[in-house]
Amino acid sequence: MKKIMIIDGGPRKNMNTAIMLEKFAEGAREAGAEVKIVRLYGIDYKGCMSCMACKIKDRASNVCKFKDALTPVLDEIAQADGLVLGSPIYFGDVTGQMRTFLERLAFPWLSYNDYSLTAPKRMPVMLIETMNGTPERNNSQGYGSMEPCIAAALGEPERLIAYNTYQVKSYDRFELAGFSEEAKRQWRDEHWEQDQQRAFEAGKRMAEKIMA
Ligand SMILES: Cc1cc2nc3c(=O)[nH]c(=O)nc-3n(C[C@H](O)[C@H](O)[C@H](O)COP(=O)(O)O)c2cc1C
Repeated sequence: MKKIMIIDGGPRKNMNTAIMLEKFAEGAREAGAEVKIVRLYGIDYKGCMSCMACKIKDRASNVCKFKDALTPVLDEIAQADGLVLGSPIYFGDVTGQMRTFLERLAFPWLSYNDYSLTAPKRMPVMLIETMNGTPERNNSQGYGSMEPCIAAALGEPERLIAYNTYQVKSYDRFELAGFSEEAKRQWRDEHWEQDQQRAFEAGKRMAEKIMA
């Protein structure tokens, strides 16, 4: 069976990013793919340790050799048929947890002999972001400098963004006067169902593509 790895880089279990990823998973499963969701905040791991074990002469590896709780996840991604990364936007970037994960994923792809980027296997990639920003006004750099690495090593990624998400369930309970709950609610009523539907369809599409 073809397998899609979904990496959740957000801390909240049942909020925007997790919901988008769950919808993607539903679509992919419906189209017949096996799906595994990994919550980065649920595992204990470090970023690249600069141990250089992936670059030892005649034993170079394009999968990270450092052993911790991320090791089995990186091994599974190397064998997978599709990859989905999801993150809320924090201060314009993906979360620190996602970035830390990406160091471990991508540094072994990079050859310091010729600066090429080679993953064990090319595969379709979907990059998902959720944020307060809107299409007209947002500060997101997305996956930033990691995007060209991902494109070179795995293939050009697709992107899916849920804008102007509800950051809390009730705006009354928090000091969030900079947001109008009414405007948030209106946006949610007009977009949130569609965002989830787009995630579902994207999951289905990726599964159909890898099974074709
Ligand atoms: C620490 C922190 C920083 C944030 N920074 C931004 C930001 O720079 N731009 C933005 O549009 N939203 C920002 N947000 C809002 C989140 O990206 C948004 O609420 C997101 O959908 C949360 O995802 P979640 O519901 O999966 O946790 C920030 C939220 C937090 C907690």
